[in-house]
This record gives sequence, structure tokens and C-alpha cells, in this order.
Amino acid sequence: VQPVQPVQPVQRSHSGPSFHEMWRDLAPIGRDADSGGYRRYAWTGADADCRDWFRAQAETRGLTYEQDRNGNQWAWLGDPAAGDAVVTGSHLDSVPDGGAFDGPLGVVSSFAALDELRARGTRPTRPLAIVNFGDEEGARFGLACVGSRLTAGQLTLDKAHALRDADGVSLPQAMERAGYDPETIGADPERLARIGAFVELHVEQGRALAHTDHAVGVASAIWPHGRWRFDFHGEANHAGTTRIEDRRDPMLTYANTVLAARKKARTAGALATFGKVSVEPNGVNAIASLVRGWLDSRAADEETLAAVVEEIERAAAERGARDGVDVRVTRESFTPVVEFAHDLRDELAKLLGDVPVLPTGAGHDAGILSGVIPTAMLFVRNPTGVSHSPAETAAEDDCLAGVTALADVLEGLACR
Ligand code: GLV
Ligand code: MN
Ligand code: MN
Ligand code: MN
Repeated sequence: VQPVQPVQPVQRSHSGPSFHEMWRDLAPIGRDADSGGYRRYAWTGADADCRDWFRAQAETRGLTYEQDRNGNQWAWLGDPAAGDAVVTGSHLDSVPDGGAFDGPLGVVSSFAALDELRARGTRPTRPLAIVNFGDEEGARFGLACVGSRLTAGQLTLDKAHALRDADGVSLPQAMERAGYDPETIGADPERLARIGAFVELHVEQGRALAHTDHAVGVASAIWPHGRWRFDFHGEANHAGTTRIEDRRDPMLTYANTVLAARKKARTAGALATFGKVSVEPNGVNAIASLVRGWLDSRAADEETLAAVVEEIERAAAERGARDGVDVRVTRESFTPVVEFAHDLRDELAKLLGDVPVLPTGAGHDAGILSGVIPTAMLFVRNPTGVSHSPAETAAEDDCLAGVTALADVLEGLACR
């Protein structure tokens, strides 16, 4: 796999490093030399390097920098206390072996858009801020959008404290080891009250724009989605001596559940994915005692999603009964459907002219915030639709068109 294509230099007067320079400096952080993919997990060394990069971008532009009580980073142009702020940004963390664009494109574009506003000589009448939300992908602790959920009061402290990574390190422990005080985490309504609008620019994660003349689109909605952990308990035994009829093999139940999930989702027009699995004791010559698989399921509406997951659970239980395998299902997270604010969406459509409006099946911090403040999203065309993969890409011209669109939006919102 080719590493991501760096975008070429953009000649434009700016008050900070150019889009190209920012992209180049961020590119090596947490990148796997073999796959070209990224492993930027919350509160790890790669995450710290991304955070240092964000802080440097803020400071080199003379923006007011702060890290909030939940570890999200902010860079302010204007008075953070003034209220009715226009905020843009995204996240810098990644999924396992993720692409370069999911998250960072929104953050880099935000700094570049701010530079463009300054180059245009615009005079914002509202404070502007750029945000980097912590732990958006949930790659380490299993729950997505931890930074924005905490801020919006959508994640209780009990649940946050109970989050653990694969090594048993809790979220507070990880934060503490990264030099951050976990005692401060929690809802931050005072901060949200100072924000009048949030706009997240993101690489598109499908091909809705690929076959259009449009480099940029506006989001209409986010599909409801969730994560469910399936535990299949069987019986460990010798692979060479245990007769087939004597086995209680959880791998078999798991495999059939994966097939059932695909079938049920396809029938319902929904999505169901088992992308992560762990096996105990994980020996080649032993029947497994436990298989643990994580289901990610999404659909256009909540009723369909609930029905699909219920059917998958039923299929797993029925198969488990046949196999002598005990199946337990735990819902680890659920994010309801998001309809982005129509007023703001219409305003964006007016500012950007005739652009496509599209829903997405991918989760975002913007989805979490939309429950609390007027929120919108811009999508930048993805020529292949590939995301959550090292092969994720976007054309240089499209990225720069995204920057201009974001600058237009910020100018339109903040200079009236
Ligand atoms: C996050 O990108 C998600 O939709 O899983
Ligand atoms: Mn993602
Ligand atoms: Mn993302
Ligand atoms: Mn995401």
C-alpha cells in the first residue's frame, strides 16, 4: 500500500505554516512504516506528539491555546469568554491502521481556513475557535467520541472511569500517565454555552461525491449506530483427541453469527460488521474456551437498527444452543440518529451555493455536539470512498477547495 499522497505546497499568504507544511509535519506521527497506516491512540506517545503539533500551530499563529477539563484542545481567535463563538475542528486520533485524512483533514483545514480569513482581511464579530477533540475513534478504550461525550454530559463519570484498554489500563490511569489530571473530567456546559455554532470538516467516507462535480458537500444526518460485545463461552479441549460430537466450540457459533449478521443486515438495508475478535486461549491445537466478537451495526433509522441487532442476537443464541455454547451480549455503546440543524444547514448551502447534501453512516464529534449546539458538517470528496484504512485518500485540489469552503462558512457565520 502506498502511503498517503502528500498535498503539494499552496502559494497563499498566510499567518502560519501552509496546508502543505502542516500536512507534512503531521504525516510521520504514529505512521506504521510497513502499511503506511496510523496508530494514534488516545493518551499514547503518538497522541502526545499530535497534541504538541496542535499547540505549536495555535501558538505560532498567536491564538489563545487551552486544553479543557476533558483533554480536548482549543485555539481561540478573539475572546473565549465573549460567547456565541463559531467553532470548527475535528480529531487527530485514528483507528488501528487508519488513514491520514479521517480527523486530521478537519484540523489542518481549520488552521488553513483561519489563515485564509486573515489573508482576506476579514473582521470577525464573533470569537472563532479550532478544536481537537480527544479520543474520537475509541480505538483504545472501545468507546468513540469520549472527549465530546464527556463535554456534552453524555458519558457518566462512572462509565468513563470504568473504560479500560486491552492491557487493563483505565482511562484515568492513561490520562494520568500522559501527564493529565483525570480528576477534572466531566460535563462542561459552561464551555458549550459559549459556542454559537460548530462546523466539522471531514473527509467523506463513502463515494457520494466521487461521481459528482462537487469537491465539497454538506451533511444532512448521521445514521444511528452502536457497538455490541458478543461473548461465546465454550469448552477448551484437545484439537487432536476430542471427537466432533463431544465439542463445545465457540468458534463455530461465532462464525455462524458473523454469517447471520451479514444476512440480516443485507435483508434490512442496514450494516453489520464483526471487525474485532479475541480468542482464549488462542492456541492452534486447542478448541477455544471463549470467543469474544464485537459487532458494529448501523442503519438509517433506529427501529431498523434495533430489529437487526435483535435478530443477530437471536441467531447467535439459537446457534449457541445447538453448539453447547453460552452466548452473552453486552451493548457497549449506542449513538442515536443525528439530524443536523436545518437552519445552519440552509445557511451553509446558501454560503456555498449549490452543493450536495448527504447523510453518512460514520460517527463524529459533530453528531454528539448536535444535541447541544447548532452543528453542521462539510465533507470533502473521497475518490475511492475508502476510509479507516491506509488507502484512504483525497485529491490535493479537493482538500484546498475544502479549506476555501470552510473559510467561506466561517466568514459568513462570524462576520455578520
Ligand atoms: C468513527 O469513525 C465511526 O464512525 O466509527
Ligand atoms: Mn473514523
Ligand atoms: Mn473522523
Ligand atoms: Mn469517527
